Amino acid sequence: MDEKTTGLINPLSLARRRILVTGASSGIGRATAELLARLGASVIVAGRDEERLARTRSSLVGDGHSQIAFDLSAIDEIPGIVARLAKEGGALSGIAHCAGVQAGRPMRIVDQNFMDDLFRVNVQSGLALARGFRQRGVPASGAAMVLVSSVSAFVGQASNVVYCATKGAVVSATKALAVEFMRDKIRVNCVCPALVETEMADRFRTTMSDEQWQGYVAQYPMGIGQPADIANSVAFLLSDAARWINGTTLVLDGGLLAG
Ligand SMILES: NC(=O)c1ccc[n+]([C@@H]2O[C@H](COP(=O)([O-])OP(=O)(O)OC[C@H]3O[C@@H](n4cnc5c(N)ncnc54)[C@H](OP(=O)(O)O)[C@@H]3O)[C@@H](O)[C@H]2O)c1
Repeated sequence: MDEKTTGLINPLSLARRRILVTGASSGIGRATAELLARLGASVIVAGRDEERLARTRSSLVGDGHSQIAFDLSAIDEIPGIVARLAKEGGALSGIAHCAGVQAGRPMRIVDQNFMDDLFRVNVQSGLALARGFRQRGVPASGAAMVLVSSVSAFVGQASNVVYCATKGAVVSATKALAVEFMRDKIRVNCVCPALVETEMADRFRTTMSDEQWQGYVAQYPMGIGQPADIANSVAFLLSDAARWINGTTLVLDGGLLAG
């Protein structure tokens, strides 16, 4: 069955697509890589830690997967890395940019380095990936990019101002990238998860007492999210099922912001 036929039968199919997933060594990125592979994609798993990446890679069904370790804070190197992936392995159908860092700090002790570190990994890396994706010969037809923001883009949180600002920037960047890349037929969307059970959430939990944590989790009418809840939407936005969705922000929060 060729790709056209598979797409007609199942618009969620990612058969014969090559997709780069950042943050694939953990949490949301790992779950995304695993789902994309199940939907037929050849996945390039990216992160910094070769061993953790190898673990993700070995969990992927199907073949044609690969891994690449690089630090997303080396912004100037990113476009070249993306272009090289396309040159050596074929055009990319998608990028799922799942990597990110969360660090809380009250404003009175925030300094330039702290802000730079968060903005580099949470905002500038996505812009640099987009720049790489836009190079001639890099995007395949039907290309799409999904950025991972957070509900922190919409809800103020004490001691989390810088992280909230980075995630707000991702929402704005998504819209502007979608408009700029429209003529090149590259769609750009983002997802905004609330609390999801990952290593990041585990680290966040250590900043609270058990009582505070119980109160925090109790705000969630449908419980906290699982990485697969986010992966499902990322996969959808990368697929042809979302071919008319562009510049959108999809909130994934188990109803948190609704009530
Ligand atoms: N979990 C939540 O509750 C939650 C809620 C809202 C939004 N989010 C967002 O969802 C995304 C994924 O979070 P997660 O919960 O899956 O976090 P996680 O389990 O901590 O995973 C973070 C991933 O980002 C990668 N990464 C971090 N800094 C990097 C750098 N400088 N260069 C390359 N890769 C780097 C890590 O790779 P290494 O193996 O190299 O460390 C890891 O694979 C983030 O953007 C986060 O802000 C998470």
